[in-house]
Amino acid sequence: MTLIAPSILSADFNILKDEIITIEKGGADYIHIDVMDGQFVPNITIGPVVIKNIKSFSKLPLDVHLMIVEPENFIEDFRKAGADIITVHYEASDHLDRLINEIKSTGAKAGVSINPATPVENLFPVLGMVDVVLIMSVNPGFGGQKFIKYTLDKVKTLKAEIERQGLDTVIEIDGGVTLENASSIVEAGVDILVAGSTVFNSKNIPETIAQLKNA
Ligand code: DX5
Ligand code: ZN
Repeated sequence: MTLIAPSILSADFNILKDEIITIEKGGADYIHIDVMDGQFVPNITIGPVVIKNIKSFSKLPLDVHLMIVEPENFIEDFRKAGADIITVHYEASDHLDRLINEIKSTGAKAGVSINPATPVENLFPVLGMVDVVLIMSVNPGFGGQKFIKYTLDKVKTLKAEIERQGLDTVIEIDGGVTLENASSIVEAGVDILVAGSTVFNSKNIPETIAQLKNA
């Protein structure tokens, strides 16, 4: 079954705890947390303080997506705050191999993300080192954008390479996932769907999560 990681970027921050309890009871598998620094992407969101708070009451694994420059300076902080998966961007590091090892040395699972225009083949050398590859299906920075269709070709290429290398690396996709396109995304080979606006703007969050799971 497909795993669902609601992105709290689209949650109502006035009632963030309630929103998280709703997705937790509603069958979410992870909480996807978008960390933006105003440099790697043109938006600023949340940091370790908020993550620590979420960790204090939620049992769901925290899937922390770092859209920041120089991520190596903050790995330890995010791990201490409670991140279970730490995902960094391929485009944000000149020393990806070292960075992945650094994440793993904290005990967190390691993820690498690529922007829509970055060739997925660039990740092939490190596929065996990472737990998760996060394919961006929008240009990162904001929730509620339209799914970029050509990213599905990258998913298919990645899936074939993971199988060729005999790995158990998981494929996650992020951006523009809807009830309409979810099944074609899963068919292409995606294991984890990140969904922000589709989940949090829906009238019945548990039902929407269930529908995405069954995609
Ligand atoms: C975009 C973020 C996404 C975003 C997804 O930069 O990484 O996680 O919140 O939101 P939707 O599902 O609304 O596209
Ligand atoms: Zn994200």
